[in-house]
Amino acid sequence: GADTVSDDLIKSIRTIPDYPKEGILFRDITTLLGDARAFRRAVDALVQPWAGSKIDQVAGIEARGFILGGAVAHQLSAGFVPIRKKGKLPHETVRIAYSLEYGLDEMEMHKDAIKPGDKVILVDDLIATGGTAEGATKLLKQMGAEVVAACFIIDLPDLGGRKKLEALDVPVRTLVEFP
Ligand code: PRP
Ligand code: ADE
Repeated sequence: GADTVSDDLIKSIRTIPDYPKEGILFRDITTLLGDARAFRRAVDALVQPWAGSKIDQVAGIEARGFILGGAVAHQLSAGFVPIRKKGKLPHETVRIAYSLEYGLDEMEMHKDAIKPGDKVILVDDLIATGGTAEGATKLLKQMGAEVVAACFIIDLPDLGGRKKLEALDVPVRTLVEFP
């Protein structure tokens, strides 16, 4: 039925309690990535709404968003733009501070990675508070990107991330939810 893909994906994700901090239920996608069928299904399901449409760039958020974003970019015949934790990119960057479920950090993108008007899909493994994806969306928009959508395998809906992105007029696609 319609739910088999989501059911299979949920089963392929491992949960680690109290990582990286006490009280966090860490949703670990390494088990999904190591399952060839689940990995392919997740990438295929993520790109499905844009199959055959013109996407210029896929932006992936370090680190787990790189793994999925590279596969998504290949599938859509788009370029790939890395959004990295601060200090990792060699050329001129734009930088933004952000908060996430278990911390604070800063992320950067190369200034010349996006051309004004580029149609961009943002990719990460999981949306929790949405702080990370909101920061990435702001960087992309600052550089003139049209953020067509943000895609994640996992949504933690109780933490409200989807609403934060929708408030920036970015449609959100997710495949599975954990309460
Ligand atoms: C995780 C996850 C998302 C972010 C989601 O990344 O991969 O990027 O947290 O949280 P939020 O919605 O509350 O902002 P993390 O910063 O742990 O980095 P990693 O991929 O390098 O492990
Ligand atoms: N990033 C933010 N919250 C997370 C969680 N609960 N599991 C995995 N990655 C996360």
